[in-house]
Amino acid sequence: MNVLLTGGAGYIGSHAVLSLLDSGHKVHVIDNLSTGHEVLIPENAKFTNCNINDEKVISSILQSNKYDLLMHFAGFIQVEESVQHPKKYFENNTDNAIKLFNICKKNGLNKIVFSSTAAAYGSVSENKLIDENTNLNPQNPYAESKIRTENFLFNNEEDFKFIILRYFNVAGADKSLRSGQISKRSTHLIKVLSEVIVGKRDHIEIYGNNYNTHDGTAIRDYIHVSDLADIHLEVAKYLLKNSKSNLFNCGYGKGFSVLDVVDTANRICKNKIIYKFSDRREGDVEKLIAETSKILTHIEWEPKYNNLEDIINSSIKWEEKINAANT
Ligand SMILES: NC(=O)c1ccc[n+]([C@@H]2O[C@H](COP(=O)([O-])OP(=O)(O)OC[C@H]3O[C@@H](n4cnc5c(N)ncnc54)[C@H](O)[C@@H]3O)[C@@H](O)[C@H]2O)c1
Repeated sequence: MNVLLTGGAGYIGSHAVLSLLDSGHKVHVIDNLSTGHEVLIPENAKFTNCNINDEKVISSILQSNKYDLLMHFAGFIQVEESVQHPKKYFENNTDNAIKLFNICKKNGLNKIVFSSTAAAYGSVSENKLIDENTNLNPQNPYAESKIRTENFLFNNEEDFKFIILRYFNVAGADKSLRSGQISKRSTHLIKVLSEVIVGKRDHIEIYGNNYNTHDGTAIRDYIHVSDLADIHLEVAKYLLKNSKSNLFNCGYGKGFSVLDVVDTANRICKNKIIYKFSDRREGDVEKLIAETSKILTHIEWEPKYNNLEDIINSSIKWEEKINAANT
């Protein structure tokens, strides 16, 4: 297949590019490098540096190439920033996405795989896995901006065939270290722990130790980025074969608390991690764990890296690699 892919210079998009190329498919990346890095785009992908809202450039790309589908990863992802600057999030994650979808439709491309988020579910009661029918209860503008884009697709089912993927917590790095997370201001727990381990930060801050969980810290379902990338390949095949819209959770169905993750990382690095508790962050929720049976019954996907230690190890190795390159 030939895929037009936005956000391919970013963390998850670049892993999806690798997964597609490794399986013999063609990819054209569109990214304006606002938070992405050109080094993450593999050499054998095509690349155009432009904004997803640039109608002129994107129309011309669509008119001179034939794509099977659009994978739309581009967007802003910092929950805390979205609380401070909601407009920035609605403009990029909703308005720009809708503009892009309409440009694609105008030029004959109507199949879309869209990166959404489990943050859309907000907080749910203890001991309940989150399936795709769970009520949405966004706790921050980031999550709301993604729901609005989902709603655009749901309201235009006549015009688009789409798969919405609600990612749980994405972590880890490509096993050959061809890509990983570069962001300097990441708030992702496993990335931050890896930075502590290689000495880029002296400690980690744990936001909230009074949640209603086994150790008081928030619980998340961590999925390895390469497994998530493979999901994109499989849902793309599903979409091309069935031409039917659908929505899937992407996680492993298993939750770990912040302290579970810190303890595992401390076992790996022999207790190098210093942590401090601070107040809960606005917009954070207590617990997010996926119910995963829907995706497992619809697509041919089996996780390859479903192991917290492996996820953390790959992240540390990537951090060591980029740290060595910068010193
Ligand atoms: N990282 C996670 O844990 C997570 C969880 C749930 C959902 N998601 C979603 O996955 C997608 C990818 O996330 P990521 O972690 O790879 O983020 P990232 O910041 O690493 O990548 C986003 C990419 O999009 C590009 N971009 C942003 N706005 C653009 C625009 N207007 N035009 C062109 N390019 C633009 C950036 O330059 C960057 O390369 C996002 O849509 C995010 O909401 C991520």
